[in-house]
Amino acid sequence: MPGVVIVGAQWGDEGKGKVVDIYTEHADMVVRFAGGPNAGHTLVVGADKLVVRLVPSGILRPQSTCVLGQGMVVDPATLAAELAELSRRGLLEGRELWLSDRAHLILPYHVAIDTLRERGAGAIGTTKRGVGPAYEDKAARLGIHAGALRDPARLEAAITRALARWAPVARDLGGELPSLADVMAAVAPVREALAARLTDAASLVDGALRAGKKVLFEGAQGTLLDVDHGTYPFVTSSSAIAGGACTGAGVGPTRIGCVVGLTKAYTTRVGGGPFPTELHDDVGEAIRKAGSEFGSVTGRPRRTGWLDLPALRYATVVNGFDGLALTKLDVLTGQPEVRACVAYEVDGRETRDFPLADLDRARPIYRTFPGWSEDLRGARRLEDLPARARAFVDFVSAESGCPLFVVSVGYERDDTIVLRSPFG
Ligand code: IMP
Repeated sequence: MPGVVIVGAQWGDEGKGKVVDIYTEHADMVVRFAGGPNAGHTLVVGADKLVVRLVPSGILRPQSTCVLGQGMVVDPATLAAELAELSRRGLLEGRELWLSDRAHLILPYHVAIDTLRERGAGAIGTTKRGVGPAYEDKAARLGIHAGALRDPARLEAAITRALARWAPVARDLGGELPSLADVMAAVAPVREALAARLTDAASLVDGALRAGKKVLFEGAQGTLLDVDHGTYPFVTSSSAIAGGACTGAGVGPTRIGCVVGLTKAYTTRVGGGPFPTELHDDVGEAIRKAGSEFGSVTGRPRRTGWLDLPALRYATVVNGFDGLALTKLDVLTGQPEVRACVAYEVDGRETRDFPLADLDRARPIYRTFPGWSEDLRGARRLEDLPARARAFVDFVSAESGCPLFVVSVGYERDDTIVLRSPFG
């Protein structure tokens, strides 16, 4: 059984938590392969909600082994706190959760640098979790593998080197770094517990795939935040696209059988950077309210706008989507009209492509649909949708060139039209 990758097609926050939760019902293993505690997935546990940043959403399914892959950057204190909270709720018992010994550590000096930079003129609106500086260390070959948690002396030596490298940067930014003693003190209480969960994650995942297990690779952030393919420099520092599952989890492309792209029925973005279909009016505000569009990690209000079909086509190209999960359709209910950007005008010329290099000059061209007012939550088949909502959904699928696998019509797990399983 080949693996299934699920990734965001937009700027993150596409509603991965819910769709991953639906798919993990059938998954034996759930693997995160990129990003770190900048992600935030809301898990619904009975009447309760729980936000996890590092632990894969599959943790709610007892049969799913959860893996944090080597493409991730992991803050030990955050991971330990998440595990403690899950344990407190009885959600860790009998579950397998493994951390790649080659994932990189985020340590307090990474957070300090990220925060200092965000105070200055070069701020891009990061989540200030230290993600960018940790990936910088990795690329500079100065990062610290999670495997160092097994050996405090090795860890201390590596931290000493890192502090020496970052000290002048902090000084230039007008700030200070935590001391070696502070960093060691932050890691000490959680070191052994995390060391017990370390493994060669690539072999673990390979073994599961060879044994015919169903493996779901859970993306973080979204295509337009990808360091190579996103709206650079307003991006995160990792490979958020489907291909990132191969490098970030250590699986060959031939092992991936299906790629599912997630898109909301509209668009949101947190932090700075271009967003051509952004709404600065009451409609944007209404969507923010109806969709509870506030960052689950930072609490920041998300910027809102209409669906961008050229961007979705672009995401389809760079990810090779086999199908789409269209989420939060219900949030548009009650709008007198619903719009979707179908093309762009750049310097007087029309294009159906996403003009990544010219977004500052690109003017969206919209198609307008009559809105609907019916409650969508009871819909379980496409035929159950009111005609106007159905017309919008069919248009999105046709324009993206992707079949629909899922249409989410409400907050609850059951408020979902499931059309196709990616596991076949
Ligand atoms: P960083 O990943 O914290 O370095 O932030 C870089 C950019 O990515 C900022 O614009 C963040 O708001 C954005 N970002 C990072 N993680 C997420 C996410 O999970 N959802 C949405 N935006 C994110």
